[in-house]
Amino acid sequence: MKVFITRQIPSNGIDLLRAKGLSLDIFEADRAITPAELIERAHGVEILLSLLTDKIDGKIMDAIGPKLKLIANYAVGFDNIDLKAAKDRGILVSNTPADEVSEAVAEHAVALIFGLAHRIVECDRFTREGKYHGWGPQMLLGTDVIRKTLGLIGGGAIGSMLARRMRDGFGVKIVYNDLKANPKLEKETGAEFLNKEELLATADFVSLHVPLLPSTRHLIGAEELKMMKSTAFLINTARGPVVDEKALIEALMNKTIAGAGLDVYECEPFIDCDLNDRLSLASLPNVILTPHTASATEGARQAMSRAAAANIIDFVEGRAPRNVRA
Ligand code: GLV
Ligand code: GLV
Repeated sequence: MKVFITRQIPSNGIDLLRAKGLSLDIFEADRAITPAELIERAHGVEILLSLLTDKIDGKIMDAIGPKLKLIANYAVGFDNIDLKAAKDRGILVSNTPADEVSEAVAEHAVALIFGLAHRIVECDRFTREGKYHGWGPQMLLGTDVIRKTLGLIGGGAIGSMLARRMRDGFGVKIVYNDLKANPKLEKETGAEFLNKEELLATADFVSLHVPLLPSTRHLIGAEELKMMKSTAFLINTARGPVVDEKALIEALMNKTIAGAGLDVYECEPFIDCDLNDRLSLASLPNVILTPHTASATEGARQAMSRAAAANIIDFVEGRAPRNVRA
């Protein structure tokens, strides 16, 4: 069977596929493939190994051709793939959840929480700019994390991993909201299930861990931001469109909330939807911005490569891919 891979990924998964004797074609440039290049190169393959930067809709599936039977996405999220279009065409879709990925994303959320609380990026900038002329009792005061309350929107694998770290390491109280309760999370961390409104009003740090679905688009908008404490921070390592970014920028400018740590953006790869830059995240001091790198550790990316390969090998050997999503 032929597999087209839309970009170079860590080689451990590739080696597993090669060892199975699969015929691999890997896009060689280190950039996102264009739709035209994708259609040309993937035409006629049975299996597509795609990245979250590849938007795979019904048109692309049809252009690749009727042999296409599996789209193995190299990501935990799979909002870049039109699941209904895949289902209509009998194409399976898989993703790459793994403990290593949850750990990496949870660590990144921890880093953003502490970066905001201790104003690490602001302090670094201040120091580099030569503004440090001696210690001051009220200089660049931050906020403590210990014993504060972390509110998780989404109590799944990544949210639970973050909750354990924050609870065990810093005595942070955990509250969470999700479609249904997670008894394991409650047992392990003492987490309390709250409705969204209660959570927003209670948490000192609100961290988002939901997939992007029609029902989670703009889950956090102007109203929700208003419910948050003015001292609270928003952390987003999930997907940009879960937050109404325009409303967030306004809330940050008006100090409705204290700050935000963002790894994902509503109009990625742009960090602002407003290309005139009238409302720019980059101009705000109370935000930390990272370029969708929460899972960018060697360990996590290798685990994703192995997981993508395992899904493909399951399929080739006649089993359902272990992380089939549709
Ligand atoms: C990264 O954003 C992923 O979904 O794996
Ligand atoms: C700070 O540097 C202190 O010694 O309190």
